[in-house]
Amino acid sequence: MIIQPRTRGFICLTSHPQGAAQNIKNQIEYVKSKGEIANGPKKVLVIGASTGFGIASRISAAFGSGAATIGVFFEKPAAEGKPGTAGWYNSAAFEKEAHEAGLYAKSINGDAFSDEVKKQTIELIKQDLGQVDLVVYSLASPRRTHPKTGVAHASVLKPIQEPFTNKTVDFHTGVISDITIQPVENGEDIANTVAVMGGEDWKFWIEDLKAAGVLAEGAKTVAYSYIGPELTYPIYRNGTIGRAKDDLEGTVPAINAILSDIHGVSYVSVNKALVTQSSSAIPVVPLYISLLYKVMKEKGIHEGTIEQMQRLFAERLYTADGKVSLDEKGRIRVDDLEMRPDVQAEVAALWEKATTENLAEISDIEGYRNEFFNLFGFNFDGIDYNADTNEVVGVPSIE
Ligand code: NAD
Ligand code: NA
Repeated sequence: MIIQPRTRGFICLTSHPQGAAQNIKNQIEYVKSKGEIANGPKKVLVIGASTGFGIASRISAAFGSGAATIGVFFEKPAAEGKPGTAGWYNSAAFEKEAHEAGLYAKSINGDAFSDEVKKQTIELIKQDLGQVDLVVYSLASPRRTHPKTGVAHASVLKPIQEPFTNKTVDFHTGVISDITIQPVENGEDIANTVAVMGGEDWKFWIEDLKAAGVLAEGAKTVAYSYIGPELTYPIYRNGTIGRAKDDLEGTVPAINAILSDIHGVSYVSVNKALVTQSSSAIPVVPLYISLLYKVMKEKGIHEGTIEQMQRLFAERLYTADGKVSLDEKGRIRVDDLEMRPDVQAEVAALWEKATTENLAEISDIEGYRNEFFNLFGFNFDGIDYNADTNEVVGVPSIE
């Protein structure tokens, strides 16, 4: 199969296996270049392990502190002239690299929201690892079938009070236009978004893992959140997805209670805005990211998902004195550089000025586009995208 990028809106329909493998290799090299993460995790479960922050967490654990990892994700292998998904190829490449490095790595492909996949994961932990000492929760999904009620919830990205009008960019063409997003019509949109992206499923996971006895003494768990700048508040932090993030952050005490007798602890880490399959779907946010990248690269403080997750592990979750620094609401902040006042002031000024005509000059739209294609294994040097990919790529631990 010759695989070229094919896009529809903010989605890329194709992925390249050798390109995805290169992406994983680059992330592994970065983590190794930072040296060993002292006192890092040893047996790790990553839920949402195939793309974005999840695969970067898995790589940081495996190649930063030699951890055995189990990854759970929802991806598709190639079939009938159609390439597999990026997360499938990422996971295939990750397992291959991990096994070559002598590290345990197995994966489960299925619906993480279901009781069935939770059971399957517990069985695998019991069989191979006994217990895990870190659980990373990095799911991002537009829908969830509730395991107890059977109700299929769909999340929405909407403001809550009033219509929200602001600039947005089509990152393929670089055309900036105004977009107006209508607010939710009733509480159902909020409740559905909270059901999909809030903290309930994270709590279900920890309840089940704890009850099965597969969490080690002192186990940690971390889930990811976002805050961002005021200009995206109406669509992000004060919108439906923000309500879900409030709920996720609000689940920490309940999870701490579940973990208390094994002296475990849960955290939410607020991460930086980055190009991932999930964030490219949010209106307004891609323009903000392309301006943010420009400012942070100029200041020499830009980070991608792997730099963020390596820093989360090495400087927040696993510190020399065991202390984890938290904000006034009890959250880990690795969005600290994004939220620096000088960075935010410069982005806000650029936001006012940004037009289709000056976009290439004042933003890093080129970097945005490049990273977007990188997510799907495209735009890597040294890969011949006109060549037949010519192999069936499997995730070694999945038949
Ligand atoms: P992503 O789309 O790259 O990754 C989502 C992962 O979830 C994939 O591994 C996918 O296979 C898995 N998944 C989705 N539905 C599933 C299901 N039903 N069963 C099993 N696996 C499933 O997303 P991401 O951007 O890395 O987001 C991860 C977390 O980080 C989310 O909570 C997100 O809100 C948060 N976050 C993202 C950003 C950002 O800018 N991208 C910033 C801060 C926080
Ligand atoms: Na992820």
